[in-house]
Amino acid sequence: MIIGLLNQKGGVGKTTLSVNLAASLSRTGARVLLIDADPQGSALDWAAARQAEPIFSVVGLPRATVHKEIGQIGQGYDHIVIDGPPRVTDLARSAIMAADVVLIPVQPSPYDIWAAEEVVKLIEEARVYKEILKAAFVVNRKIANTAIGRDVREALAAYPFQVLASSVTQRVVFAEAAAQGLAVHEIDQNGSAASEIEAVAAELMEFAR
Ligand SMILES: Nc1ncnc2c1ncn2[C@@H]1O[C@H](COP(=O)(O)OP(=O)(O)OP(=O)(O)O)[C@@H](O)[C@H]1O
Ligand SMILES: [Mg+2]
Repeated sequence: MIIGLLNQKGGVGKTTLSVNLAASLSRTGARVLLIDADPQGSALDWAAARQAEPIFSVVGLPRATVHKEIGQIGQGYDHIVIDGPPRVTDLARSAIMAADVVLIPVQPSPYDIWAAEEVVKLIEEARVYKEILKAAFVVNRKIANTAIGRDVREALAAYPFQVLASSVTQRVVFAEAAAQGLAVHEIDQNGSAASEIEAVAAELMEFAR
């Protein structure tokens, strides 16, 4: 399965979800590759900060040819996660073309909901060439029990993609884990952040089948 985390809006959680989903998928024994398709190289920074044994491979590929190279580079892996770039449209387009399923993180904010239009357009363009491409939103940085947290689902319903039922709450452990190049489950295996990531991974796998 090739999962692309895309959204041209910056700071929505593409990298955070990429590393944690890759970690979650590799926990089941699957061989996982994380492709950093962002020139900022944040996923590579995450890997460089890590002192623990690697649990999946990370490579940088910030080129508009990801979709052409992925067959070669992804050989021998069960799952590939692509951490997409903000802004740069040609790189995002290539990452979308490379993916079986695109996961679009959005924060519960009207700005994020409006900005999602751009990535929705790119995915719809890609579907002209790749009809089977699947796409779904995932709400990230939800603040528990707020009206805006509930409204975001309603607002996203205006777009032609579904919103995953599982979402990820705003929690400081995501930044704390990233600082050490760890996944949240490596900090607290039974924590709420880890179980939310597990739930997103499980729902995504089901959705992508
Ligand atoms: N669920 C969360 N709880 C708390 N902090 C979070 C959460 N998700 C992301 N963050 C924080 O928000 C910031 C942006 O997240 P991240 O870098 O994953 O976004 P991005 O979409 O990859 O950004 P860019 O577009 O720059 O690549 C980071 O500081 C990250 O630690
Ligand atoms: Mg990023």
